[in-house]
Amino acid sequence: MTEARDKLEAARDAFNRDFEKLKSRGSEGLGLAETELLLRDLGEAKIRHTGKKSRLAESKNLIGKLAPEHRGEFGQYVQSIEKSIVETIVAFELLINKSLSKTRTKAERLDVTLPGRRPRTGHLHPITILRQKIEDIFVSMGYTIEDDREIETDYYNFDALNIPEGHPARESQDTFYTTDGFALRSQTSTVQIRAMERRGVPIRIIAPGKVFRRDTPDMTHVPMFHQIEGLCVDKGITMAHLKGTVTEWLKRLFGEDTTTRFRPSYFPFTEPSAEFDFSCFKCHGSGKFDGERCRPCKGSGWIELGGSGMVHPNVLKAVGVDPQVYSGFAFGFGLERMCALMYSLDDIRLMFDNDVRFLEQFT
Ligand code: DAH
Repeated sequence: MTEARDKLEAARDAFNRDFEKLKSRGSEGLGLAETELLLRDLGEAKIRHTGKKSRLAESKNLIGKLAPEHRGEFGQYVQSIEKSIVETIVAFELLINKSLSKTRTKAERLDVTLPGRRPRTGHLHPITILRQKIEDIFVSMGYTIEDDREIETDYYNFDALNIPEGHPARESQDTFYTTDGFALRSQTSTVQIRAMERRGVPIRIIAPGKVFRRDTPDMTHVPMFHQIEGLCVDKGITMAHLKGTVTEWLKRLFGEDTTTRFRPSYFPFTEPSAEFDFSCFKCHGSGKFDGERCRPCKGSGWIELGGSGMVHPNVLKAVGVDPQVYSGFAFGFGLERMCALMYSLDDIRLMFDNDVRFLEQFT
């Protein structure tokens, strides 16, 4: 009996020692993590001191082994100690839980008056803005937009465009080559061939896209830039249609008073060929702005834009179209120079540096 009593009292004392330690950690004013940890430790102490493997449980098992006359008394003693341990734990648990909910509310409180973090929205690149404006104009004139590959064979970049091997025009459009006979296209004129092969004639398309040249970057050159190609082939198409079309889209872009000028030129894939200029959007062709020499047109009143002409019979033949029946015009121009003039940029490389301080200005 005394042995059992000693065991039980040792169990009680062990609990008391443990509990004192837990209690000394306090329940008020702790941080959220600390309070949560205390609650967990208390839960563990509960299992340790009242669970199936606890000393208390061992004492309970002893009841049945005692002489019958001692069982009642010892049983009551065990019960009273168990009750006091459990009550102590529950009371402290309650206290910690209260404090925990207080700390949680405090930690999760929102200040709805704090200013939010505004997401930075991007915008289109100036080249894209200009390209889309021009695309819209051509779509409204009944043109389809063609998108095609940037990696090409010599055939599409040169041969089919009436630029055979050894032709001097290949020299001026040197590009980047891969090891297996492919090259990055040096002009969007490749899409003339691809589109006619795919769609046949009559056809009316524009083809915007990237082109590549073996150029060292400087203020006016970059090895990758953008062009827009135009092609219209049908029965009875003449130079008048070319001039009318080019003038019309430039009027729609820069205003009704815009005029154009065609100068005789040479391109292997057109005959006759012409370069086209348009009256300066800033000085409207006068060459003077605010009494000074106008900057974009350098005082000439004209801005040179691109090349054009009547599609060469050899180009039509290359795609199986009879030049006796069909005729067409084509034109092509670059976007970077145009964009630079419109936004008064001195250096076209700015458009590819991807510096947000620069790009942000073109919303
Ligand atoms: N492909 C020419 C170039 O990159 C531009 C050009 C000239 C396109 C005349 C044409 C054209 O369609 O008819 O310099």
